[in-house]
Amino acid sequence: MIIAVDGPTASGKGTIAKALAAHFGLPHLDTGLLYRAVGRQVSLNGGNPDDPADALAACGFPDGLLDDPELRSEASGGLASRVSVHPAVRQALYERQRAFALQPGGAVLDGRDIGTVIAPEADAKLFVIASVPARAERRFKEMQAQGRDVALAEIAADLEARDQRDRTRAEAPLVAASDAVLLDTSELGKDEAIAAAIRIVSEQAAARR
Ligand code: C5P
Repeated sequence: MIIAVDGPTASGKGTIAKALAAHFGLPHLDTGLLYRAVGRQVSLNGGNPDDPADALAACGFPDGLLDDPELRSEASGGLASRVSVHPAVRQALYERQRAFALQPGGAVLDGRDIGTVIAPEADAKLFVIASVPARAERRFKEMQAQGRDVALAEIAADLEARDQRDRTRAEAPLVAASDAVLLDTSELGKDEAIAAAIRIVSEQAAARR
């Protein structure tokens, strides 16, 4: 079974995808991490994330970079969003994601374009959303837990800028697939959101059989 989980930053999609993978016994790929690694590699190279050639050159990042805790920072998220607008970067990361989705037995992938571009044939598709204040609050708590010093207002502004860039880019914009089920986690606790996601995916998979 292939499960596609898409949605904006801090909507809860990563937590939900991980829980779905554990519940259904499937491997999980956080595709945002790949774009974050490209963004980080551009900066390590001293390149410009808005330059398509610099961004493409960074797609050959070493696998070890995926374990770098710096990838979880807001700065890396911002860089990821800038390199992800380049079609050549999306193309360079496509095969890796596609192969992960097609492995025997299936997989869970979370990102922005899994249900639309990477695995349009997915058996279940979730589009996870949440209000900006709810997402900013979550991200703020995450950052605090990591000992990072950031202001709530700054996080909210950054989320909105990133959403805007992800939604309006020409290639693979952030948009729900027509057959995705919307899950709004604004008012849900973690366990409630996970339970709702498992229910939706089970229903979608059953309807496909
Ligand atoms: O999900 P995460 O916040 O880690 O993603 C970082 C950035 O990477 C997003 O803002 C988006 O611009 C980009 N991304 C993407 N397509 C994906 C996953 C992430 O464009 N499938």
